[in-house]
Amino acid sequence: MRSCVLAAEADLAGFRAAARVLLRDGIAPSEVGWSVRDAAVAPLAFGDADAALGQAGAGPDAQADRDPDAGPDAAARRVPADFVALCRDVVLHRDPQRFARLYRLLWRLCHEPSLRHDALDAEMALARRMAQAVRRDIHKMRAFVRFRPVDEPGHDTPLHVAWFEPQHHILETNAPFFERRFAGMRWAILTPERSVRWDGRALQFGPGGVRADAPAADAGEAMWLTYYRSIFNPARLKLRAMENEMPRRYWRNLPEAALIAPLAAEANARRAAMIEAPATVPRRRIVPLAPAPRSIAADAALPVEVRGAAWAAERDRASHCRECPIGEHATQTVWGEGPIGARVMLVGEQPGDREDLEGRPFVGPAGQLLARAIQRLGWERRALYLTNAVKHFKYEPRGRRRMHKTAAQREADACAHWLEREIALVAPGVIVALGATAARQLLGHALPVQKARGQWFTRADGRRVLVTLHPSALLRGDPAALGPSFDAWVDDLSRAGSVSARDLDSDPTAGTPR
Ligand code: URA
Repeated sequence: MRSCVLAAEADLAGFRAAARVLLRDGIAPSEVGWSVRDAAVAPLAFGDADAALGQAGAGPDAQADRDPDAGPDAAARRVPADFVALCRDVVLHRDPQRFARLYRLLWRLCHEPSLRHDALDAEMALARRMAQAVRRDIHKMRAFVRFRPVDEPGHDTPLHVAWFEPQHHILETNAPFFERRFAGMRWAILTPERSVRWDGRALQFGPGGVRADAPAADAGEAMWLTYYRSIFNPARLKLRAMENEMPRRYWRNLPEAALIAPLAAEANARRAAMIEAPATVPRRRIVPLAPAPRSIAADAALPVEVRGAAWAAERDRASHCRECPIGEHATQTVWGEGPIGARVMLVGEQPGDREDLEGRPFVGPAGQLLARAIQRLGWERRALYLTNAVKHFKYEPRGRRRMHKTAAQREADACAHWLEREIALVAPGVIVALGATAARQLLGHALPVQKARGQWFTRADGRRVLVTLHPSALLRGDPAALGPSFDAWVDDLSRAGSVSARDLDSDPTAGTPR
């Protein structure tokens, strides 16, 4: 009997090297015992096959490994590529028999050539199901990891810590995903078996922990729960589909899961109330046309008060704008909001239903998500300038609802001079384009936002524009993935730097209308 001891739970390289030698020596699957060295104490050393085989008594045979044409090793090399891919997933499965199962399949592929054409083989089908379960676990970890910030002595920025209980040995495989997604923040993910930490330079793996090692809920999370409650739509509730996407075993570590039962319980009553409620009536505010403005140089060097007065005049003029047909149907013009001299200007697409009714940018659901990001970033909202590329709400009536409709290019272009006036008068240090419409209007050309997100561009006037997604894009995405996509979005926004009232030219309330 040969005993093969692998270096770690997910030691694919070790398994492949050991299997190659076993095949070469003609050792049948029934003659091999597979085990893993104590994962809790073993340093993470993938590809530790020589050590594994040394302990196994199979003995490292450098010559056989180096001579790929020798004996059954050559047969092993003819193993179909999709079996190698299958092994990559199956070695991550928690089944202690996984290495034995894979070696048995490998042996059979080499000795029963018909196996590769047998779509119904039970052992192969089981391995495929195991691979699928692993891939699903990888996906769920990406969707359900929830970081909470903790202060660490000696560091200016918090460490974001998450507790997660994977079904399989997926931490090492998944860690590079989090490294790419959250490259700009320091984070750690603790699981019962292993942990991983990113310090901005390298991933470090270590032993596992217990749930109490991770921080408890924080204030940011209370806001997240309020937000989750407010976007919960009783008319769209499909519990079965929700449980499928967000299996119950993950609920204990998802703060929002505690809200599902009470929200579901009141869904019927809320749905009935929504049907009974009268339609929202837009409140049109028509103000007489203001006189044309005096020409004011769009120049950051002008005193803040002069720019503030010009800004107020422009806002009044825009309130009567009918340069495109959208204004005719909207309640009012939604002008930008924030201090003259704000260091950071955020530009969205166009006001939504709530913004149209209230006359202020980013006060609806997308605005609430933005507020959450602003809080997470530690930015001072009153020091930000928020506006839109298009100043009127364009919509399509559907029943009692007004559904957002993207403005046509000519409509956005008709609004361009208002946005340019705001930029010239606010004179922000940097601009953040939220979504494709804002990016196109700010830069003068279309660009693929998914690809360009997190990157800086320079306008013809020399101003720098950071491009990222619009908050509505996150809200439209898979609800189960909102946590990670929100974290990634915050990471994009963080590239704009800090936002503090201290950076303002003068009185931060100068030019702020409300
Ligand atoms: N979406 C936007 O682009 N702007 C708003 O003000 C609200 C939603």
